[in-house]
Amino acid sequence: MSEVAVLVIERGGQAERFEVAFEAGQSVLDGLRLIRATVDPGLAFRYSCLNANACKECMMVLDGKVIYACTARLEAREMRLGPLPNKALVRDLVTAIAPPDERL
Ligand code: FES
Repeated sequence: MSEVAVLVIERGGQAERFEVAFEAGQSVLDGLRLIRATVDPGLAFRYSCLNANACKECMMVLDGKVIYACTARLEAREMRLGPLPNKALVRDLVTAIAPPDERL
């Protein structure tokens, strides 16, 4: 049976709430991809490897702690997500992760 997580996402200085149905074991990244596919195609977040903890591109803040969205699990509660605080914000949950001299 699926459960519901409430993702509260910091975007542009506001907090937006999204309810996401999930099965046990699904990741925060799964929830974000579902939101983007079904509710808000404009939601910005970054990932490459999906679930290998290899690309490190899905780093964001969950309830005040830096996590990898692809390895953090959805839970049936309110989960607050925001961009990394110590990086330049690109949009929504995307921050500039490349060193400045590697950016085009
Ligand atoms: S998507 Fe690559 S580490 Fe999370």
